[in-house]
Amino acid sequence: MRTSTTLSLLAFFAINTFAFPSRMFDLSFSAEEKRALDAISAKIESNIKEKRVSTPLAPTFVASEQYVSNTGAHAFVAPGPSDLRGPCPGLNAMANHNYIPHNGVATIAQFVQGTYDVFGMGLDLGAFLAVFGAVFDGDLTSWSIGGPPSASLLSSIGLLGTPQGISGSHNKYESDVSPTRPDLYEYGNDYKVILDQFNDLYSQPLGPNGYDLTTLTPFRAKRFQQSIDNNPYFFNGPFTGVLVQPAAYTFIYRFMSNKSAEFPEGYLNGDVLKSFFSITGTPGTFSWTEGHEKIPNNWYKRALGDEYTIPYFQTDLTAAALAYPQFLSVGGNTGTTNSYAGVDITMLTGGVYNTATLAKGNNAMCFAFQFAQQAAPDLLKGLFSSVTQPLAKINGAFASVFSQLSCPQLQSIDASQFSKFPGSKGAA
Ligand code: HEM
Ligand SMILES: *[C@@H]1O[C@H](CO)[C@@H](O)[C@H](O)[C@H]1NC(C)=O
Repeated sequence: MRTSTTLSLLAFFAINTFAFPSRMFDLSFSAEEKRALDAISAKIESNIKEKRVSTPLAPTFVASEQYVSNTGAHAFVAPGPSDLRGPCPGLNAMANHNYIPHNGVATIAQFVQGTYDVFGMGLDLGAFLAVFGAVFDGDLTSWSIGGPPSASLLSSIGLLGTPQGISGSHNKYESDVSPTRPDLYEYGNDYKVILDQFNDLYSQPLGPNGYDLTTLTPFRAKRFQQSIDNNPYFFNGPFTGVLVQPAAYTFIYRFMSNKSAEFPEGYLNGDVLKSFFSITGTPGTFSWTEGHEKIPNNWYKRALGDEYTIPYFQTDLTAAALAYPQFLSVGGNTGTTNSYAGVDITMLTGGVYNTATLAKGNNAMCFAFQFAQQAAPDLLKGLFSSVTQPLAKINGAFASVFSQLSCPQLQSIDASQFSKFPGSKGAA
């Protein structure tokens, strides 16, 4: 039996007290999208057995609910020449196993459903990430997990050019300091695995849960320093550096780890890591096959009710930043290696945040989302003939995020300092 199915369970476990953010779908979605998202929301609500709060609860493993099929309709099929794949191993694997369309272009509802079904991503996080993709890298309804999709897959809603997909979203979505992918301006692409980086990840000392956050967070610090040392155009952006970059690390353990009775929060071993990253071979002879990310045999996702939500991600993001304060340093190299300079956060945020307050409570995450919201109108002017619809859509997504985080009020941003970072193009 696959996860997430079963209407019989629905009646049994339905919880009325848990206001899962289905209200988020009231804003700025088409009737069709709203129907699709409401259906997913209802299904997920029915699966929630315990109220998820910002402090993670100990999940209970139930094999039949957590097993993720990689056979039959979900058997691995390698991407063909016109199928799009990109920098995200989770999305590539979902497409290869037909949890989202095999061509690599999916709708918002398909991304929300797929990330929940395969990985147990919270509806709040899935919806925000999917809407952000649709607005900044897609046609408001769908987007590509790789490069630009063919015109026949796009709706015409006043697009000024072809949407670039997430591979073409540097500084908007795609960021420097990725675990296995290169920095764009150092290597000329942002999605082809660098085997040295994978090898380095693979050889980190393991934590109690394998490649867990005690392994991944120090690895991120190492990668951060490598970008300072080697990429003259390194830019650690307010949204991409502060929010997307940590996701690229925490998702590895939180989503890829295999859940079991012994390790209900997951254990991530080298074989499972290799499968999800499309790596074969052994250290020293690793090889990477582009776009062949696979869901391993006999692999179990997050427990129902233990979804990785925005508040959960927030606790991981903040913990990493407390251990390595440089993660919250917005800034970059100024055109040569080892020239890292931080921006003045007070000036950037009109005094709402400063370096000291950024590390407190929800602030780092608030700042990242709020910056992205403030930067949106200008960025969208370059993508759409009218920003009304895209702005309404992205602001709806921001509103639901802010309903979960209590944030100080950021009224405006002043990104003029970014001009000294040649790699900051597209960030604001
Ligand atoms: C709709 C949901 C998602 C969106 C929009 C998304 C988007 C992205 C983007 C834009 C990147 C590039 C970031 C960078 O430059 O470092 C990325 C990387 C990554 N994503 Fe996703 N992603 C989603 C879901 C997932 C899921 C479910 C997983 C589960 C494992 C995942 C795992 C990762 C990992 C591990 C990386 C870093 C890859 C590397 O550099 O080695 N993502 N994703
Ligand atoms: C996941 O854990 C279960 C229980 O220990 C085990 O039977 C299964 O083989 C593991 N799956 C993978 C892909 O390692």
